Amino acid sequence: MNIYNVPMKNIKTDILVIGAGGAGIRAAIEAKKSGLNTILLGKEVLGCAHTGMAMGGMNAAMVKPATPEFHAQITIEGGYFINNYKMVKVFAEEMPARIYDLESYGVIYDRLESGDFYVWAGPKQKYPLNVCVGDYTGREMMQGLVDEARKLNIKYTDEFFVSKLLKKDNCVVGAVGINIKTGEFVVFHAKAVILASGGAGRMYRVTTNAASNTGDGYAMALEVGAELVDMEMVQFHPTGMAYPPSSLGVLVTEKVRAHGGLLRNNKGERFMSKYFPKEMEMAKRDEVSRSIFQEVAAGGGTKHHAVYLHVDHWPKEKILEHIPDVYEQYKNAGVDISKEPMEIYPSMHHMMGGIKINEWGKTNILGLYAAGEVAGGVHGANRLGGNSIAEGQVFGRRAGISAAKYAKKTKLSSLPTNLIKNEEQRIMSFISRKNGVPPHEVEDKLKQVMWDKVGIFRDEKRLASAKKDIQALKKIALKMKTRTKIKERNRDLQDSLEIENMLLTAESVIEAALIRKESRGAHSRIDYPEMVEEWEKNILIKKVGNELVTKIVPIITK
Ligand code: FUM
Repeated sequence: MNIYNVPMKNIKTDILVIGAGGAGIRAAIEAKKSGLNTILLGKEVLGCAHTGMAMGGMNAAMVKPATPEFHAQITIEGGYFINNYKMVKVFAEEMPARIYDLESYGVIYDRLESGDFYVWAGPKQKYPLNVCVGDYTGREMMQGLVDEARKLNIKYTDEFFVSKLLKKDNCVVGAVGINIKTGEFVVFHAKAVILASGGAGRMYRVTTNAASNTGDGYAMALEVGAELVDMEMVQFHPTGMAYPPSSLGVLVTEKVRAHGGLLRNNKGERFMSKYFPKEMEMAKRDEVSRSIFQEVAAGGGTKHHAVYLHVDHWPKEKILEHIPDVYEQYKNAGVDISKEPMEIYPSMHHMMGGIKINEWGKTNILGLYAAGEVAGGVHGANRLGGNSIAEGQVFGRRAGISAAKYAKKTKLSSLPTNLIKNEEQRIMSFISRKNGVPPHEVEDKLKQVMWDKVGIFRDEKRLASAKKDIQALKKIALKMKTRTKIKERNRDLQDSLEIENMLLTAESVIEAALIRKESRGAHSRIDYPEMVEEWEKNILIKKVGNELVTKIVPIITK
């Protein structure tokens, strides 16, 4: 039996949205508003996707002198000029309208007594763009989106793990996976599929990302022949919690530094003066992350391999007004940040690369659309803080509109029954096999390889060694085996499926990182330290047979 209380075989819908974070819900809202049957699938309970962990805010030109042109310009400069310029223009122009959409769904932004938006300035923001709700903007955004989805009666299947996209005659025609609660195998048959499954932070040992960010979308897209772009561009947020160990990697928002938080080394020096004397704490994310890495490596770190972030010079009211969640998360860890500094270190935060889409969320595969972090293009080589949950609103809406347009002129095709049978067998093999390895052993090794060899600084030797490690882990992963044979809530089963996705995603990151022989934004090659004009290009990657094939292409400027 299944969620609809009928023997589960084949659920039909016009539009299937995979992933229920900010971009996915926004896409579903638009698809449903177009009058089509829309099903939204999420790995979590509705409202609990990774978007809810976003703290600082979202960029939009809401307050003069900021303009959409300025927003677009700094997004491209911040992205080191390999962004998709067309997408950036659309993003900056449409963002103010998306801020008002969210307000109409119930989001209550921070405003001044005058009634104007309270906006703060992140790196590169000569004119402030960051619209926020305290330091819990993502949570408030999710609440608004969930309320709107409920109002529209969008069907949501929670705790559902999509394991494979179905392709027939070169079109995506649905997806299959398991109901995490019951272990039931389910087929979704759709006219169009929108992937909004988020990023892949969990393939790194230390990350700000929620447990659900396991690269599922990149892997599933590769398997159906979709192209990914600039997968080498992995962002490390400069300030993740470094202590206590139970909180390792948890985000400490950039809003802290933007409001006067100070970075100091173990001698109490503001070490950013050595690396970026003009910008200091407000240098770009890639720059601050590299500086912290170098400062700790040079002996300036704390005993927890970290540096200090101070707000203990702020009045307590300022802390509680602007960063109440940061205060609370440290208080829960036994640290009163109004009296003592935080210990922080860079933490894997965001995939700038992702599925190649056009400005309407279309991929190179008919019937397949993508939006949010799983898609690439907007951010280039370094994403500006405040541009992530923002762009999910613009391109989530656009993907919903264009998928609906396509679905309206498309009939449900027949299903690829062989693929479905094979996938059910693949999933069951993790449970049924007699001997094998526990999934967590593979996962632990993967995280360590990515952290040690595909991190903030890279070089040919370590990348090539990481490639070998991942290839070896892929072979071991074929033998992963769950500890129990139950199908209901079998965590090992979900882990096994996620690990296979992370391995393929990791492989694509490494492949692209080996190809890009320069340093640009988040991709810092010790062996190629300069940013080189000839490399103002995008790297596409796709899976052909069992191989990942790369192609270097000109950037999209118009
Ligand atoms: O620092 C932050 O609040 C993170 C924001 C973002 O990644 O956009």
